[in-house]
Amino acid sequence: MTTEMKKMVLVVAAFVCVLVVGAYAAHSDYGCDSCHTPHNAEALVGVPLWNGSETMKSFAGKMYTSTSMDAVTAEEPDGASKLCMSCHDGSNGHTYIGTHTKIDYDTGSPIVDDDGNPVNFAPTAWEDLSNSHPISFVYDEQLALDDGGLKNPTEDSGLGGSIADDMLDPAGKVQCTTCHDVHTSGVGENLLRGYDYFHGPNGGALCRVCHEK
Ligand code: HEC
Ligand code: HEC
Ligand code: HEC
Ligand code: HEC
Repeated sequence: MTTEMKKMVLVVAAFVCVLVVGAYAAHSDYGCDSCHTPHNAEALVGVPLWNGSETMKSFAGKMYTSTSMDAVTAEEPDGASKLCMSCHDGSNGHTYIGTHTKIDYDTGSPIVDDDGNPVNFAPTAWEDLSNSHPISFVYDEQLALDDGGLKNPTEDSGLGGSIADDMLDPAGKVQCTTCHDVHTSGVGENLLRGYDYFHGPNGGALCRVCHEK
C-alpha cells in the first residue's frame, strides 16, 4: 500500500468511527441526573439513587397479556421499567436528553423539519404496553418449568454470568433493562445488551438467551 492509500484508509476509518460513536449515544452520555441523584434519593427496586421522576401515565390494563403466557405481570411498570416510562411515555424527556438536536447518522448533519428547524430528541410516547414484550414479572425456574419453552434463568446468558445475574433485576424480574443497557451504546441501534436483533443468521440470538425456539 502506498502512503497515500494508507492515509486514505486512516481517514475513512476515522470517519466511520465518528459515525459509529456519534450514532448510538448511551443515555448516560447526557448526564446522570435524569435518573440518579446523589442526595435525597427515592427507593425503586433495581435503580440505585433513583431521582424520583415518575411516569405521568397509568398503564393499568395496558400491560401485555396472552392466552399462552404463564407469567403474571405487575399492574403498572415497576423497577427500572417505571424509570424508563418516566420519559418513554412522552412526559419528561425534553428536560434532559431531549435538549439535544438529532443528527442524521449517514451525513452527520442535523435533521431538520419541513420549516428547516432542527428536530430534537424525543422519546417514544408510549400510551400502551400491551403490544410490547412483557415486563415487570418474575422469571424463575418455576416459570421455566410451567412454560416448557424457556431456559432456567440460572443458565449462562453468554454475557459473563447467568441470565438472572445479567438480565433480571434484584427481584428476579424481566424489565426494560433486561434487553437494554442505558449506560452503554450497546450493540446495533437500540442500546441492546450484548446481542443485536435483526434479520439473518443469528438475528434471534438475544431472544434465544431465554427462549428455546
Ligand atoms: C436513563 C437512566 C439512567 C441514566 C441517565 C444513568 N443511569 Fe445509572 N442506572 C440506571 C439503571 C436503570 C440502573 C440499574 C442497573 C441497570 O439496569 O443498568 C443504573 C445503575 C447504576 C449504577 C449501579 C449498578 C451498576 O451498573 O454499576 C451506577 C453506579 C450508575 N447507574 C451510575 C450512573 C452514572 C455515573 C451515570 C451518568 C454518567 C448514570 N448512571 C446514568 C439508569 C440510568
Ligand atoms: C430522561 C429521559 C429518559 C429516560 C429516563 C429514559 N430514556 Fe430512553 N430515550 C430518551 C430519549 C429522549 C430518546 C430518544 C433519543 C434518540 O432519538 O435517539 C431515548 C431513546 C431510547 C432508545 C432508542 C435508542 C436510540 O438510539 O434511538 C432506547 C432503546 C431507550 N431509550 C431505552 C430506554 C430504557 C430501557 C430506559 C430505562 C432504563 C430509558 N430509555 C429511560 C429519554 C429517556
Ligand atoms: C425482550 C427484550 C426487550 C425488552 C424487555 C424491551 N425491549 Fe425495547 N427493544 C428491543 C429490541 C430487540 C429493539 C429493536 C427492535 C425494534 O425496534 O423493534 C427494541 C427497541 C426499542 C426502542 C427503539 C425503537 C422504538 O420503538 O422506539 C425503544 C425506545 C425501546 N426499545 C424501549 C424499551 C422500553 C422503554 C422497554 C420497557 C418498557 C423495552 N424497550 C423493553 C428489545 C426489548
Ligand atoms: C431475559 C429473558 C428473555 C429474553 C432475552 C427475551 N424473552 Fe421473551 N419472554 C421471556 C419470558 C420469561 C416470557 C414470559 C413467558 C410466559 O410466561 O409464558 C417471555 C414472553 C415472550 C413472548 C410472549 C409469549 C406468550 O405466551 O404470550 C414472546 C412472543 C416473546 N417473549 C418473544 C421474545 C423475543 C422476540 C425476544 C427477543 C427480541 C425475547 N422474547 C427476549 C423471557 C425473555
